[in-house]
Amino acid sequence: MSVLERVPRSSRLSGFHRLGVSARRQRLVESTWLAPERARSLEHVGCGLTESDADAMVENVIGLHALPLAVALNFRINGVDRVLPMSVEEPSIVAAASYAARLVLDGGGFTAEADEPVLTCQVQLLDVPDMGIARERLLAAKPSLLAEADALIPSMVARGGGARDLEVRLLGDCLVVHVHVDVRDAMGANTVNTVAEGLSESLEDLSGGRVGLRILTNLSDRRKVTVRCRVPTSSLVSNGFPDGAVVARRIVEAQRFAELDVYRAVTHNKGVMNGVDSVLLAFGNDWRAVEAGAHAWASRSGTYAPLTRWWCNDKWLMGELTLPLATSTVGGAARNHPGVKLALELAHVSSANDLGMLAAAAGLASNLAALKALSTEGINRGHMALHARRVAAEVGAAGDEVGAVAARLAQERCYRPERALEILAEVKRSSGTS
Ligand code: MEV
Repeated sequence: MSVLERVPRSSRLSGFHRLGVSARRQRLVESTWLAPERARSLEHVGCGLTESDADAMVENVIGLHALPLAVALNFRINGVDRVLPMSVEEPSIVAAASYAARLVLDGGGFTAEADEPVLTCQVQLLDVPDMGIARERLLAAKPSLLAEADALIPSMVARGGGARDLEVRLLGDCLVVHVHVDVRDAMGANTVNTVAEGLSESLEDLSGGRVGLRILTNLSDRRKVTVRCRVPTSSLVSNGFPDGAVVARRIVEAQRFAELDVYRAVTHNKGVMNGVDSVLLAFGNDWRAVEAGAHAWASRSGTYAPLTRWWCNDKWLMGELTLPLATSTVGGAARNHPGVKLALELAHVSSANDLGMLAAAAGLASNLAALKALSTEGINRGHMALHARRVAAEVGAAGDEVGAVAARLAQERCYRPERALEILAEVKRSSGTS
């Protein structure tokens, strides 16, 4: 039984968004998501990331660059509540993911599954005298090549990973060898690149050719995550839409638009990646690799397509997202970055695959929120409502005043701080607090 199962916590922290930043940290401590000393570390940029930590991560460091760190709430994945750390510069993404996760909770939460964490490297062989014979010889030598690969990565083998399979592809005038390696909780780029380079000599001997490129592929299609959800149509009732089944059908129409049109599909998938990338960034993961793999996966039929599927009947809206997700919870930033260590602790992440499932759930939630807003009242109202709350807080509104001031700003469609100040004064006068 995992620690998560032993200590059930709720990811529904009502009123969380109305609290101030330090009160939110306190709330996470009270609800036992976060240890008090970890919460204190959040008072420092990057949880105390130092210039020398940064200098050990990349080259030519001249300082630290901060982004907001937030948590998305209401997520339940495979029956367990989770809070999702997200780091992102774009407003509304965290609120939208939390909102959609709340809808999904009405249907029991997300279910998710992940492939074994297998990453693939490619070795290009050129000037091969006879492609057919070379292919036969390489395939016949598969057991010894896999054993040789394992000998190159002993610590990965000790952790339960290792070379699993080998394929040979004929590509025009070159022959390409794929080696599939189980990389456990690592992202795995260094591991598979070590295998690709280390096997070069044997591959040249067997094929009679010369090696060209030796590098991982970011289309990690043996390392996919699938997440599913269903929402009762009764939960989709919203402003101006008294019948949730109508909203469900509109969401399915939006899905259909993305299936028919690449211009729409790319924006649809951008909405998915809003959730996926924000989670990956909070965990210091290589989101560029995931982005590249996701879009290649979206194009696998030869036409760029939406990463998600949505369908419905009168009672349920159902959704699914599958994408390659090469995640990591060890090495790199997980070793050097205190903010990443905090994110791993806060989300109680048990493995790289577990992290992949969190990121995918955030992706499906982000897509659901976007499609629901776009196919009903449009995206702007929600964005402006959040903007109004921010302006209200900036001019000094606190507690219930924030909502009162924001509502008036939205009603008047005026978001100037000077107007917010006037409204705040009126609110204070009428509540007797001025
Ligand atoms: C904005 O960051 C994301 C959306 O454009 C996604 C979509 O259109 O589905 C709202």
